[in-house]
Amino acid sequence: MIALYGTPPADVVDLPADAVQFSPLKPGASVLEQQAQESLDGLIMLAPPGTLERRYSIALGLRALKPDAPFTILAPKDRGGTRLRKELQVFGCAFEETARAHHRICTGARPQRPTGIDEALADGGPRLIDDVGLWSQPGVFSYDRLDPGTAMLIEHLPVLRGRGADFGCGIGILAHAVLTSDKVTEIALVDIDRRAIECAQHNVADARARFLWADIRTAELADLDFVVMNAPFHDAGAEDQKLALGFVQRAAQALGKGGVCFMVANRHLPYEAILTPTFKRTELVIETGGYKIYEAHK
Ligand SMILES: C[S@@+](CC[C@H](N)C(=O)[O-])C[C@H]1O[C@@H](n2cnc3c(N)ncnc32)[C@H](O)[C@@H]1O
Repeated sequence: MIALYGTPPADVVDLPADAVQFSPLKPGASVLEQQAQESLDGLIMLAPPGTLERRYSIALGLRALKPDAPFTILAPKDRGGTRLRKELQVFGCAFEETARAHHRICTGARPQRPTGIDEALADGGPRLIDDVGLWSQPGVFSYDRLDPGTAMLIEHLPVLRGRGADFGCGIGILAHAVLTSDKVTEIALVDIDRRAIECAQHNVADARARFLWADIRTAELADLDFVVMNAPFHDAGAEDQKLALGFVQRAAQALGKGGVCFMVANRHLPYEAILTPTFKRTELVIETGGYKIYEAHK
């Protein structure tokens, strides 16, 4: 089996048609943490941008590769690519490095005995973050601190009731706050990042919570009473307002009559342009410190 991690640009690497996807950002993908050691025949990895996350993913990949099996590990040069050489040396890999289309591409074979695997797995694995008292993992959104936008939304949320969803739930901070209301009967926590969902399962141990590793744009949700969200506006590191607007449209579709969406957004993003025509009534609850909170009624 050839493993693929992420979606490397086709003009940089040839992708075998039968490669099996392992990225935690591709809902339904296989799980590298669960892959038997020394079982993979090859690995093509678009290494993630965060240092701890990248070293962790590479360590998982090397652990799962058969000795001497080939790997191609690449990254854009301004998103970890220039660090790959040193990082692969720490793992004891022999490889060739080339550059194409702003990427650094390292091609080599898995050493008989890679070094530094356990350290990289420990540094990048899930852990309890003492400051917030919640499980998190390098690579998930704002992994070791409470995002100010999230904190602000929690502060302004009313007591909610009925069935709802936390769109792009991350490690579950908003859902955790919502569930302090005993009027809430159910909440779906949805995120495209498997690692976030796994942390959320630790953090939101409540029978009213259900967890969906899914792209919100295709998740099946209907007749909800409320949606809460701190919508993402970056995709693969680049600002992508379409993604955030997709979240708003999806919220409108998933809410039932009389349902309400509470969202926090960065001040510079033009959410009014989509909220106003999509919802019956939209209120700007507060605008401060670079953030805006909206309450939008269906
Ligand atoms: C700004 S973070 C908010 C996380 C969490 N709700 C909080 O407030 O801390 C946005 C989240 O949306 C997730 N996300 C991005 N694109 C998504 C998509 N298409 N479907 C579902 N979740 C997505 C990200 O993985 C990230 O966890």
